[in-house]
Amino acid sequence: MKITLQQAVKLLAAGGVVAVPTETVYGLAARADNPEAISRIYAIKNRPADNPLICHFHSVAQIRKYAAALSPLTLLLLHKFSPGPISFLIELKPGSPLRRASAGRKYMVARIPLHPMLLKLLRELDAPLAAPSANTSGRVSTTTAMMVQKDLGSRIDGVLDGGPSVIGLESTIVDARKDGAVKILRPGVVGIYEIQHLLKGKKAAVSYQVSGSNTPGTRYRHYAPETPLYRISKERQLKDESHCVLLCTSEDLDAMSPATKSAFAGKGVIVLSLGSVHQLSRVARNLFFTLTRIDEMKVRKAYYLENDWGSSSLGVAIRNRLEKACG
Ligand code: TXA
Ligand code: MG
Repeated sequence: MKITLQQAVKLLAAGGVVAVPTETVYGLAARADNPEAISRIYAIKNRPADNPLICHFHSVAQIRKYAAALSPLTLLLLHKFSPGPISFLIELKPGSPLRRASAGRKYMVARIPLHPMLLKLLRELDAPLAAPSANTSGRVSTTTAMMVQKDLGSRIDGVLDGGPSVIGLESTIVDARKDGAVKILRPGVVGIYEIQHLLKGKKAAVSYQVSGSNTPGTRYRHYAPETPLYRISKERQLKDESHCVLLCTSEDLDAMSPATKSAFAGKGVIVLSLGSVHQLSRVARNLFFTLTRIDEMKVRKAYYLENDWGSSSLGVAIRNRLEKACG
């Protein structure tokens, strides 16, 4: 059910759980300081109890109320990139009411979102919101109110429709707690280049650290359509396949011979384009929607014709999500 901003404020204040738009993906929100509401998020998503939730704030001042300390690097990046699609690992004050949202950890992951509706909501509520991506655990993140409705519809108290998420991939998560190093734990639209550019002249190494048991998003299966998705490197590998989906770039699709295309059509091989390697923002924006379309095709298997995506921040993030989507 779609709700207005005022209804969302009221529902959340009373301990409700509602889906909210963000510039990255839709979030499933509840007051981060309300343990019962947090439990409902876990139940609705069927999320493993030890997987902590990102907390959303309207300002650095509000983060400070809950943070034990903000390292100089964290502060610098917060001021430069927030509000925006970047989240930070931040130590909580002892006894913090956000400990439950952080699954009992001493650290939270915090961000200040850019979406104007969500920022307004956060200001009016004046309480932090825990909001993991608004999808059943393990499934594809949602980027429109319609996708949320289809996945979680009857289980939540409402959806605030703020239009399609303009970025389409979850926020970059960074650990900038120590001097001299910024670790990118989950790649996103803000990447090594943007952070390095900002830190020019300062002695800090910026690196991706996207695997390891402590890294967000690596312990559980993520971003996957229900249909099993397999990576292939050549379309020839599908010569004996029928009734399946082939996911590829528009360049790969253009390069396919007419004979291959008609053979695919004859055997029920449905080709879905991810978009052009020259328009990565568009690929990112449509990625999760395209992955959900695989399931709508009602086939038993899907294949992803692997592409490199390059070394830009978005390229790295797109490759990361597609790798995770493959079983
Ligand atoms: O763009 C985003 O970040 C979206 C929107 C809604 O803000 N949220 C999002 O949340 O992607 P979620 O829960 O789907 O992904 C957050 C990741 C998870 O892999 C979780 O394990 C990790 O961040 N995380 C959250 N809090 C953490 C903490 N305190 N310590 C370590 N990892 C944490
Ligand atoms: Mg998620």
